Amino acid sequence: MTGPASYGEVHGPRVGEMSRRSFMRRIVGAGVGLLSLQFLAGSLAFLWPNIRGGLGGQISIGTAADIITQFPEWAAGTPYIYNPARLFIVNVPAAKALVEGQTPDVPDPGTTFGEDVPLADRSVLALYRKCPHLGCQIPQLCEQSEWFECLCHGSKYTVLGEKRDGPAPRGMDSFAVSVGEDGGYVIDTSEVISGPPVGTATFDTRGPGDMPHCSG
Ligand code: FES
Repeated sequence: MTGPASYGEVHGPRVGEMSRRSFMRRIVGAGVGLLSLQFLAGSLAFLWPNIRGGLGGQISIGTAADIITQFPEWAAGTPYIYNPARLFIVNVPAAKALVEGQTPDVPDPGTTFGEDVPLADRSVLALYRKCPHLGCQIPQLCEQSEWFECLCHGSKYTVLGEKRDGPAPRGMDSFAVSVGEDGGYVIDTSEVISGPPVGTATFDTRGPGDMPHCSG
């Protein structure tokens, strides 16, 4: 025998009570809302470092002397990593001497810039650490090869950012550099300058088989 039916079974939910169906609907709706919020938060977290890092504007990174105070190896050809905007600041004459087997000491590479100046004749390059293949962050110059080597899929670039090996479609992207009123270098990150086409070989014409590498 079954007992007497409840009020809800006979008449539906009382006024002010929620039916099981609308209760479930609200639970599902809340779940979807929560997932959307998480997605939004994840997207903002992805974008935030770039926004906070100053990409998109003029970034003053100080004079050559300021950089060397923070990172003395810069005068000896090792690029200075400016992390807030994910940049390599390359002291071109020092890096060139390093690759050519000399002992570089270039405390002030000077102020020669401009799109019409060949890469190797510029004082300083601001290379974007975002690999032009699929966007991985490129680590510091590989000590064995003195090339930038992306560890994700093995694209390799000279210290000027010219591509030498791997799946990347071009050389490393860069930003324009100028000198501010205080004599410090200013990087214009409002516009990404597309990397040099494959086959550009200004100097350091070694092939990938000529030396050991950090990436595969
Ligand atoms: S992301 Fe750098 S080689 Fe693929």
